[in-house]
Amino acid sequence: MTAFELIRALAHDAAIGIVVTDPMIEPPGPIILYANAAFSRLVGRELDEIVGRSPRFMQGKETRRETLDVFHRALAAGERFHSYLANYRGGGTKYRAEIDCRSLRTADGHIENFVSFEREVIRRLGRPAGSASGRYEPTSVSNDALTGVLRALGVFKRA
Ligand SMILES: Cc1cc2nc3c(=O)[nH]c(=O)nc-3n(C[C@H](O)[C@H](O)[C@H](O)COP(=O)(O)O)c2cc1C
Repeated sequence: MTAFELIRALAHDAAIGIVVTDPMIEPPGPIILYANAAFSRLVGRELDEIVGRSPRFMQGKETRRETLDVFHRALAAGERFHSYLANYRGGGTKYRAEIDCRSLRTADGHIENFVSFEREVIRRLGRPAGSASGRYEPTSVSNDALTGVLRALGVFKRA
């Protein structure tokens, strides 16, 4: 069983948005191969509008190019990308996504897929915090079984 097959088997009912792409970084890639129901709710589109496209369709005017360049370089280097991006729902409303994206490798180290864990965050009220993770908080907190497993894997935690 590949890592992708394992994720697909477990992610279906997860409360966190989970999306898997092919390993192609340059357009038309990365192509979305799988997204769970929570991802569909997060981005406000049906799964059949999501699968087969590049995640770039969520970007818009206020998506920072500098952050996308960091994202691109992390993908090219096979490194984790954990940051916050302004994205847009099907209906055009903007939301802020926390994105924790990692590469999935074969036993010999070859990148097979990318997987990203995504959730909506809002700006924390009150005193501005020094770091991005202190500036934002998730709009909802889930406690399903997979969320516990992902927490143990450090998803959404700073390295
Ligand atoms: C698994 C995965 C999930 C991604 N999810 C998002 C996303 O939710 N929002 C977004 O704006 N970009 C997302 N991206 C990033 C874009 O697909 C693209 O890599 C990014 O725009 C940088 O590349 P570019 O400089 O060629 O545009 C994701 C990429 C991968 C591999």
